[in-house]
Amino acid sequence: MKKSPPGKAGRESDNGLPRLENFSLEGSRVLLRLDLNAPLAAAPEGREQRELRDDTRLRAVLPGLRKLHAARAAVLIISHLGQPRTPESCAAWSLAPVARRLSELLGFEVPLAHEWLGGVAWTPGGILLAENVRFLAGETCNDDDLARRMGALCEIYVNDAFSVSHRKHASTYGVVKYAPRVCAGPLLLSELSELGRIFKNPRRPLLAVVGGAKLESKLGVLRSLLGQVDRLLVGGLVGAALLAVANRSAVPGVSLDAEQEQGARELLEAGGERLLLPEDVVCATAPDAPQSQVRKRDELRPEECVLDIGPATAARFAELVHGAGTVLWSGPLGLYEAPRFANGTRTLAAALAKSDAYSVAGGGDTLAALAGVGYPGIVSFASTGGGAFLSYLRDRTLPALEILHERVRALRAMERARDF
Ligand code: 3PG
Repeated sequence: MKKSPPGKAGRESDNGLPRLENFSLEGSRVLLRLDLNAPLAAAPEGREQRELRDDTRLRAVLPGLRKLHAARAAVLIISHLGQPRTPESCAAWSLAPVARRLSELLGFEVPLAHEWLGGVAWTPGGILLAENVRFLAGETCNDDDLARRMGALCEIYVNDAFSVSHRKHASTYGVVKYAPRVCAGPLLLSELSELGRIFKNPRRPLLAVVGGAKLESKLGVLRSLLGQVDRLLVGGLVGAALLAVANRSAVPGVSLDAEQEQGARELLEAGGERLLLPEDVVCATAPDAPQSQVRKRDELRPEECVLDIGPATAARFAELVHGAGTVLWSGPLGLYEAPRFANGTRTLAAALAKSDAYSVAGGGDTLAALAGVGYPGIVSFASTGGGAFLSYLRDRTLPALEILHERVRALRAMERARDF
């Protein structure tokens, strides 16, 4: 592999990771880890092939792909799609629909390589898409031999897949220690720099909104945010679960084990004035029950589901969003898919649309929820991360980033030893 001519390599990224610009890419074999895990629609009648329902993640990686294409690198993309568990389920998770859409977006063909681990026909300026990396036994358990074989394919490994960087898989993690050179792609770097803006010197007040389901998987995120934000507003089933713990009552759909309950209790104690739970909520015996009612936070009933934050809470949260300098939003505040339980999410989205706060959204269903209540595209930065976004908020790093840094340090040490 050619090294960049002196003086032309460009600066490395702010966080010390090499970027594409640091390499002379022409003719280099680049193994590019992307997250092309896009939602699929059911196959149309009479056809086996499924189509993409949303191509946001594909559009997000176009800058990196265009850069590599223009530099005439020889590119093999690796990505997963879905969570294929058995050989029989594999056909349903083929990356063929992704290859088709990517070809349309780029304006040239991106062929799908079914067999690639033994080597591919590398072409300068060409882009190949390897079939679903999760079809390979050993990918999700980070098999060392698989990681070594992937690393041996390339001259440069590029991680441009923030949204799967919380996974310690062979293609995100293990491969890094076997690749001769490694770097971060433009999407990964922009995710890190936008999230960095929230925590490094944010415009105050810094406010976080957390909703969605599964308090148990969000306790760590809430704990970490509480230490950094001025206000933490909680809604959705996460808020309902915290109310249930505070009231020592039960809420349908919430079941915490003793340790999780203890964690929730500690969070409530530590929360003080920074932690805002709903003052009122919208409840019904079932999401499709004909009647729903607004109840105060201490009047929850064990037979009623909590399906939205109530109007008083929505108004108070909206007022806080209005006065915020920075807003971080993860998770809908109610069952927004049903119009009668969408008021909380819509009221907050409307407040955010009017505010001039710097805002970032990501995690789970958040972007779909904002679009679903009529406010698509209102945030300053929409993260492509679901689980990765939440993991990053909790830990302020991700395993695939850690190993990238480690490898960069090791390669630099090797270079220094060689030059000595
Ligand atoms: C995501 O959609 O969050 C990423 O693509 C990771 O997918 P996974 O949860 O199947 O690992």
